[in-house]
Amino acid sequence: MRPLPGFVVWFTGLSGAGKSTICSELAGQLKLRMHQVRILDGDEIRKQLSSDLGYSIADRTENIRRITYLAQILSECGIIVLVAAISPLCSMRELVRTAIPGVLEVFVDAPLDVCESRDRKGLYKKARLGNLPNFTGLSSPFESPTSPDVICRTHIESIEESSAKVLEAILTRLEESSPRVAPQAGRRPTIAVDLDGVIANYDGWRGASVIGSPRPDVVKALT
Ligand code: ADX
Repeated sequence: MRPLPGFVVWFTGLSGAGKSTICSELAGQLKLRMHQVRILDGDEIRKQLSSDLGYSIADRTENIRRITYLAQILSECGIIVLVAAISPLCSMRELVRTAIPGVLEVFVDAPLDVCESRDRKGLYKKARLGNLPNFTGLSSPFESPTSPDVICRTHIESIEESSAKVLEAILTRLEESSPRVAPQAGRRPTIAVDLDGVIANYDGWRGASVIGSPRPDVVKALT
């Protein structure tokens, strides 16, 4: 069987926009389709791989560079990599596109006030109180992507709707990059199953791997 190809899907958007939630839902859908999937989540990466970095533009750029490198390696192993990182500037996403030309860019586009009202981690509150410098959307910029492949508006669509859109885009890309073998023009393949020795020569049981060859007259009649 042909191995399933790898791929990188890059989710960008404000903290609380729904990047990680869509990734989890999507990972489940892809696993059902027998794909190998890994999520590289900003919060987790910052604990494991970028614990030395802060939130200045230079540090964020370095963080994105590290994630890009890891995503590239994993995708080369046939894994579908779902990256959930704010990646706030166009220049950072350009860096990703240059390193991974086929990357699918998903903009998780929820307005700042909606993200702030969700505030599951309490970070917006902390930032408003002045206890979290360089906070994206408040004291550090977020540049919306100009031509993302998919836009998920999580304030007006459900997580299932958002992840279904991304799933469709992924499956379309995979189909384009590795199309199924098309039958020769004008010819349709014939699959014939012989249950009783009528269309193949059968001269008794000689093991599971020994099958009779098709009868030439039957082949002629069927093709
Ligand atoms: S990125 O800008 O470098 O892409 P990344 O996605 O890794 O950011 O990390 C963002 C996560 O770090 C947020 O989801 C949030 O939980 C946490 N965080 C802590 N401080 C900040 C901050 N100043 N700005 C944005 N996110 C922050």
